[in-house]
Amino acid sequence: MEKFLINGGNRLCGEIKIGGAKNAAVAVIPATILLSGKTTITNLPRISDTEVLHKLLSEMGSKISIDGTTMVIDNEDILHHTHNFDLAGKMRASYYMCGALLGRYKEAEIPLPGGCNLGTRQIDQHIKGFEKLGAEVKISHGLIRIKADKLVGTNICFDIVSVGATINVMLAATMAEGITKLENVAKEPHVVDIANLLNKAGAKIEGAGTDIITIYGVTSLKGVEHEIIPDQIETGTYMIAAAATKGNVLLTDVCPEHMESVMDKLRDAGVEVAVESSNQIRVKADKKLLAISVKTLPYPGFPTDLQSPIGTMLTVANGTSMIIENIWENRFKYLDELNKMGSDVSVDGRIAIIRGVDKITGARVTAPDLRGGAALIIAGLIAEGYTIVSGVEHVDRGYEDMEMKLKQLGADIKRIREED
Ligand code: EPU
Repeated sequence: MEKFLINGGNRLCGEIKIGGAKNAAVAVIPATILLSGKTTITNLPRISDTEVLHKLLSEMGSKISIDGTTMVIDNEDILHHTHNFDLAGKMRASYYMCGALLGRYKEAEIPLPGGCNLGTRQIDQHIKGFEKLGAEVKISHGLIRIKADKLVGTNICFDIVSVGATINVMLAATMAEGITKLENVAKEPHVVDIANLLNKAGAKIEGAGTDIITIYGVTSLKGVEHEIIPDQIETGTYMIAAAATKGNVLLTDVCPEHMESVMDKLRDAGVEVAVESSNQIRVKADKKLLAISVKTLPYPGFPTDLQSPIGTMLTVANGTSMIIENIWENRFKYLDELNKMGSDVSVDGRIAIIRGVDKITGARVTAPDLRGGAALIIAGLIAEGYTIVSGVEHVDRGYEDMEMKLKQLGADIKRIREED
């Protein structure tokens, strides 16, 4: 198994290019199932989650070629089912195949999704949406089977705001008869990205990015070219890493509009953040950071996916910080690892209290999940001495070339093997 070996203490300085958004890419790829002909996806992040989807769809009959960050995909002969539990179970986003296959074939059969263990991770809102459109959903032996004679547009009000349910039901409703109105939807940038892709292909979707999405069903969609939006979470992770190491980093190829809540919190913590152009943000920190309170919320609130990185940053801030995790019930596991490094953190349910310390020190820690892994890497960067982070496979699921990008900014980080 691979690990990261980090010799902490270096300030991150320089320029870094942000890649395409993981959580958009993992929906865009399945969404192409609805499109006839070839689709070209650009700015594709080179991460293991997109590789898994590549393998899964290829096995089902898609013809896919990849050249750097460009994927050309043709789903003309794709099957409406897969029983590959190993691949589908490796990630959460395999559930987007349900919405896309249901829209195209009115039928889908795939293994239940996997992904990071952040809590119960239900899919009841996806199922509610499919059923309201006229489908029958059965779950047994780890498989989800969905079938409809036809899909008919209707009003669906989600009980909670769910990114996955919003996108999945939008995918199916794109090919339903009549008008579907989705209420209490997620407004994340990748929801808008998927709606933009579908609209380019001939769908009629209005309101993505607001609380209500209206979908006028169409009978066919054509292949298009689509550039994936910049990764909001990768951007935020490096912004926080720059701040935590008292660095000075210019992040390029970003979307500053998506980063408002993160910029606000960093400024509250005493970090200088400047939008230098329509796609560049500079983060500079040279003073002791200040303690802050952070509440995670659906977009445009502070993203849960940056809760772990900012939690690490706050371990060395001046004073006591509080984090309230409103989205996932089990996203504080990285804090136990941070305490091994000398932080002073306690957790009560969904609230973490972080009492700032002067320094943390290197230790052997294990990434509990993707963003917790990024948080521990940031911890290694600010700690005194050597840190070994295992569980690198979590990080590879969502961060492209993380150690290369950090090295480029001056970090002392190496990927090592068990025997090293
Ligand atoms: N939920 C339900 N029922 C549902 C769906 C969700 O109760 O049918 C609950 C979840 O258990 C959770 C909350 O609603 O407590 C929000 O879940 P959501 O559906 O919004 O999350 P998701 O679509 O499964 C995506 C991202 C996550 C990110 C969340 C929230 C992908 C592949 N994953 O998950 O990203 O944390 O939205 O923004 O898009 C990550 O990238 O590290 C990651 C975990």
